[in-house]
Amino acid sequence: MKLTQSAVLAFAASALAAPSQTTEVKPRQAAAACSSAVTLDASTNVFKKYTLHPNKFYRTEIETAITSMSDESLVAAAKEVANVGSFLWIDTIENIAKIEPSIGDVPCSNILGLVIYDLPGRDCAAKASNGELKVGELSKYKSQYIDPIVKILKAHPNTAFALVIEPDSLPNLVTNIDKTPCKNSASGYRDGVAYALKQLNLPNVVMYLDAGHGGWLGWDANLKPGAQELAKAYTAAGKPKQFRGIATNVAGWNQWDESPGEFSTASDAKYNKCQNEKIYVETFGAALKTAGMPNHAIVDTGRNGVSGLRKEWGNWCNVAGAGFGKRFTADTGSSLADAFVWVKPGGESDGTSDESATRYDSFCGKEESYKPAPEAGQWNQDYFETLIKNANPSF
Ligand code: GLC
Repeated sequence: MKLTQSAVLAFAASALAAPSQTTEVKPRQAAAACSSAVTLDASTNVFKKYTLHPNKFYRTEIETAITSMSDESLVAAAKEVANVGSFLWIDTIENIAKIEPSIGDVPCSNILGLVIYDLPGRDCAAKASNGELKVGELSKYKSQYIDPIVKILKAHPNTAFALVIEPDSLPNLVTNIDKTPCKNSASGYRDGVAYALKQLNLPNVVMYLDAGHGGWLGWDANLKPGAQELAKAYTAAGKPKQFRGIATNVAGWNQWDESPGEFSTASDAKYNKCQNEKIYVETFGAALKTAGMPNHAIVDTGRNGVSGLRKEWGNWCNVAGAGFGKRFTADTGSSLADAFVWVKPGGESDGTSDESATRYDSFCGKEESYKPAPEAGQWNQDYFETLIKNANPSF
């Protein structure tokens, strides 16, 4: 979604224009911001104190979505979705402009979640989310992407921020380094991630580095190299104080604690003990500890409400029939898992199903992928409505 002033105003207007409905999306401006500088203690679970903020960009997308819904119970449910905390993706240099307008309505009890996602040669093992920066444009990543974000976060010391750092990047270096684009991206990913972790190490920030999911780095052979790859970035960044651990299942579909697990009867299941995200967080967490890295986790439960939809564990694109999953909570039942969070904004596409598009990835043409699907990040109304209908817990 592109930031326009009118989108912000349209949101405000629509929020105010529905006073007669009982479940209207409430304007957030009323809640008070923090009156002094926020200091987050990354040796603790900050989500026990701060609620993940329902950012206004996702709320605006939902407001727009509601205008083309006629079913009243669906509308009521969509309004509840708008009140669930979720992360805002800063996926281009241009979208850095979304940060400032998102800060204004964050009450002192909330933390604003941002996804840092613009590495050179982004999404090296797939095509759907290839980014604006080319391999080799590391200095541009640093000076035109990370540095301006640092400046904004520094200028807002009274706001708490939770960051997910560069989804898929380091996991791709662990398992897809045989692919030429990943080989070419490797040094830029390593330097870029370390730079981001080092520069974003601010008192009002807590950082989580993406660690894929159980079906990715959870394989026996990937646990140790995976942990070492992530720990190397943490060390290269100078072991930043505000670093808390990992983000898992980002834009993913895995169940939290289904037992014995969605893919436990697959022929290769014996090579992967991490058959659900809880086991992954605990098993990979132990490997991270050995590798010398903080190992707490946040887990994306945004779209994992329904199990058994995928034929293969690796199928990641717009899985049809999915439902919204667990809502934000810091009560996960696992001492290593800080919170369940919605990182991928449900309703935004994972990738286009248009075979003629430059960023068409064959995974988005799989039998179980919803079609037609727009470009990654673009709104898919029907998909959003299905996520609501299939939500578990329900809305
Ligand atoms: C995808 C897109 C990105 C979008 C994000 C959240 O990864 O590439 O542009 O912001 O998903 O929907």
